[in-house]
Amino acid sequence: MRKQIVVANWKMNNSPEQSKQLCSSILSNMSPIDKEVILAPSYLYLNAVVDATQNSVIKVAAQNCHQEISGAYTGEVSASMLAALGLDYVILGHSERRYYYGEDNSLLAKKVSSALSQGLKVIYCCGETLDQRNSGAHIDRITKQLTEGLFHLPTDAMRNIVIGYEPIWAVGTGITATSTQAQEMHAHIRNAISNKYGADIANDTSILYGGSCTPSNVKELFVQNDVDGGLIGGASLDADDFIAIVNA
Ligand code: 13P
Repeated sequence: MRKQIVVANWKMNNSPEQSKQLCSSILSNMSPIDKEVILAPSYLYLNAVVDATQNSVIKVAAQNCHQEISGAYTGEVSASMLAALGLDYVILGHSERRYYYGEDNSLLAKKVSSALSQGLKVIYCCGETLDQRNSGAHIDRITKQLTEGLFHLPTDAMRNIVIGYEPIWAVGTGITATSTQAQEMHAHIRNAISNKYGADIANDTSILYGGSCTPSNVKELFVQNDVDGGLIGGASLDADDFIAIVNA
């Protein structure tokens, strides 16, 4: 059975104090749930968030990692460093990393392998631009991102992959994909995984939607057959909103 998952991607936000407060509000107000909740703070606050969430159901993710395990890469952080902190997950392939830092599918394929080799699970993000959607190229675009960034993995490794579908036109814009658009793409992603790895793996893979999720729009998204939760940006910076989304 695949898991329902909600991820708070805090991106480059929050002070140390705000991060701690968000953690404690989420911990004290979250009702017992059957969803997995993952917090993804900046690298700097990972330690504090791991400490604050110890002995709780909350898991912690980094927002990125380098493709090499160690070496002369000034300013970078490796998957082995993240694993040593006791993290569970790393987000890779977020559209902001693809766009601002030129991360392409072949680099992401290396990052994915590196993270898995250190025992981390990977939340692999994919998404299309508005032009690609309007010209009907969105399905092919996602297939390419999956094929080139992920489908080099052997079957067993896929059990440690979560997919994040984040249409770029919906990230931070206040425009959410309709539940029909999300379901169509999630079904396509599951089908692509099934074609490559078989129906069992495809059915067990959690596929999350991200892009302007709010407490009021997630209910309709989360009830779609192939939507297994969400990646939450802006709304995850407010404890009440995030808890409402988790409980949706
Ligand atoms: P927003 O929820 O702010 O649109 O961000 C989504 C996102 O990028 C999560 O990874």
